[in-house]
Amino acid sequence: MLKAILSKKELSEQSEFFGYVRDLLQDEAVSRLKDFRHHIGTTRFQHSLNVSYYNFLLCKKLKLDARAAARAGLLHDLFFYDRRKHINVESSHAAEHSKEALKNASERFDLSELEQDMIVNHMWPATKARPKFKETYAITLVDKFCATAEFSKMVYNYAISKTQMVACLAAVICLRLTLK
Ligand SMILES: [Fe+2]
Ligand SMILES: [Fe+2]
Repeated sequence: MLKAILSKKELSEQSEFFGYVRDLLQDEAVSRLKDFRHHIGTTRFQHSLNVSYYNFLLCKKLKLDARAAARAGLLHDLFFYDRRKHINVESSHAAEHSKEALKNASERFDLSELEQDMIVNHMWPATKARPKFKETYAITLVDKFCATAEFSKMVYNYAISKTQMVACLAAVICLRLTLK
């Protein structure tokens, strides 16, 4: 099952999108992203897939490079450290992880100048360099949208589970009082 947040579509059946990222999804390094928690409530792989799919949709709608959007989206957070344990006093996580992602992605895949810019500048304006392409501005928006959606979903699920727990407890208390 390969689904993006807020979508019921099976992404492996979305032929255009899936065709753009199929080889990346088979890569061991991309799969490793499943081992890292990201934005508290999801994995780095799921977040990257979310960004990949929505960046693809947005760039396709805007008649921009949808292939590069999908591929750079999947690779934009290709780094392998736990953000909470990795503290570098000399540079911010925002600047550091996007450079690390570009380095890791470049070592494994042939990246166009556009894809490189989308990966290394996806944190703009938290990073100093300005995006060179319209697609890079798109990924900065999509990345923030996905992070917000992931966090909101986690808060919603937490609230629902708490409500269910309280409801169950109330039902048990009612049942015991009735049976007395
Ligand atoms: Fe990032
Ligand atoms: Fe991201």
